Amino acid sequence: MMTAIVLGIETSCDETGVGVVRLHDDGVVTLLADEIASSVAEHARFGGVVPEVASRAHLQAMVPTVHRALETAGVAASDVDAVAVTAGPGLAGALLVGVAAAKAYATAWDVPLYGVNHLTAHVAVDTLEHGPLPPALALLVSGGHSSLLQVTHLAAPLDPLGATIDDAAGEAFDKVARLLGLGFPGGPFIDRAARGGDPASVRFPRGLTGPRDAPYDFSFAGVKTAVARHVEALQRDGVTVPVGDIAAAFQEAVVDVLTAKALRAAADRGIDTLLLGGGVAANSRLRALAAQRCATAGVALRVPRPRLCTDNGAMVAALGAHLLAACAPSSGFDIPADPTLAVTRSLV
Ligand code: KG4
Ligand code: ZN
Repeated sequence: MMTAIVLGIETSCDETGVGVVRLHDDGVVTLLADEIASSVAEHARFGGVVPEVASRAHLQAMVPTVHRALETAGVAASDVDAVAVTAGPGLAGALLVGVAAAKAYATAWDVPLYGVNHLTAHVAVDTLEHGPLPPALALLVSGGHSSLLQVTHLAAPLDPLGATIDDAAGEAFDKVARLLGLGFPGGPFIDRAARGGDPASVRFPRGLTGPRDAPYDFSFAGVKTAVARHVEALQRDGVTVPVGDIAAAFQEAVVDVLTAKALRAAADRGIDTLLLGGGVAANSRLRALAAQRCATAGVALRVPRPRLCTDNGAMVAALGAHLLAACAPSSGFDIPADPTLAVTRSLV
């Protein structure tokens, strides 16, 4: 049986991720290793990722993380058949470290290089758990992006139906967590705090859901501001801020809009598979409400396990394997790190 080993490198934000996957001759891709070194703790006191700190952390973590991934996968460097790397979008300096490392490894090992799109990789990772992907609608929600995309094939360009016009969903979680005095990144803290709260305690605005609004675009600046005004009013009146209730009400407003728009797009386009990806897809309420609404609409839901939703190297390796399987042309060794890489380009 012919199989191929693909190593993937992810450094678009604050996680140095290195994944190793095996591409089987029937096109199935399986996970062998998924190693992550995160610099999140170094950013926490700033309440956001500091690009230069992230770049330096990637530089320090890169070689040890590659070694760990090969060791966990039980493969030798000489077994690797291709190297894939996130070429964009992301933080310029952070991407540059991964792209430079990938070029160096691909050169040293004399194997093809695939510079891939971070968002397509968030979609591709699902195949590691749930097998080949049928044509689907993907809702990608992370700290940097909130997009609705139509996916026909992982080696083909994704078709963007809509995106946020202001904050990304994860950014809104992070900012609201900060307002509520919770930790960074805010998503997991809000998720946890919301479990003890009442989602109906306040009805926060659902952005861009009016009859004349763009049906597939998102806006989260309004809900974030509404939470800020609400918290300020409580504080002015000397009332203790009910953190759990506000976290639950905010989370409900965001996931209500995300799932409603995704299912509307699925119905409009006649697509019967919805895939969630990106860090916010780790949110327990988003997963539950998407499951409920998909079941009602007769849409199959695919959501990777939370660890594969947040940034990792396995997703990059998975996409690299699908590109290899599709005989996509490999990237030149002169590819740039592209901070604003368009979602319509899966491969650089
Ligand atoms: O995909 P990701 O790891 O990095 C980017 O590409 O941005 O996403 C990180 C984002 C952060 O904003 C974080 O707060 C959010 O994902 N996040 C969550 C949860 N876990 C991570 N948001 C809501 N609920 C969660 N459980
Ligand atoms: Zn991401």
